[in-house]
Amino acid sequence: MQTLIGEQEIRSAVTSLGKQIASEFCNESVTVLGVLTGSIVFLADLIRSIDLPHRVGLIQASSYRGATRTPLKLRINDSLLPDIRGRSVLLVDDIFDTGATLSALLATVRTYEPRRIQSAVLLWKTGKSTVDIQPDYHCFQIPDRFVVGYGLDYNDDYRHLPFIAVLDHRDV
Ligand code: IMP
Ligand code: MG
Repeated sequence: MQTLIGEQEIRSAVTSLGKQIASEFCNESVTVLGVLTGSIVFLADLIRSIDLPHRVGLIQASSYRGATRTPLKLRINDSLLPDIRGRSVLLVDDIFDTGATLSALLATVRTYEPRRIQSAVLLWKTGKSTVDIQPDYHCFQIPDRFVVGYGLDYNDDYRHLPFIAVLDHRDV
């Protein structure tokens, strides 16, 4: 597999995103809401770069196939969601691909009546969006390749890699 974004490059991008978020959310009651499972590594690094008192919560999104040959369906599990009513929420996910996941998550989170919601993703595959939203913050725009590492998986493998790599057909 080929490294697309190295550890140092990720570290400096996440650190500067954390600083930007801290300056734009100051004096607000902030909850950083990580999307399981892909955001865990990004979330852990990002919250330590946000030098501002904030809470951390989790929500889960997973895609599954119902009957064979039907499109992937999205399941959102909000049973872990803390109380976010009236708070400023930063929804944090690993990647914005078609945007369908982020769009559905935003709709679900909005029903809990936060004061406002912004979104942050580590990676953004631009030009593939099927929805009319964009992430408010991102660290890297990447080409349309399947990537793993730093939380991102292929069949639940490779999440632990400290860098982002393009998956080779020999790796699967
Ligand atoms: P979207 O709903 O099409 O934006 O896809 C978002 C979800 O698809 C992400 O949360 C990932 O779980 C998964 N995904 C999309 N592209 C990749 C990739 O290149 N590598 C690993 N997972 C991906
Ligand atoms: Mg995934």
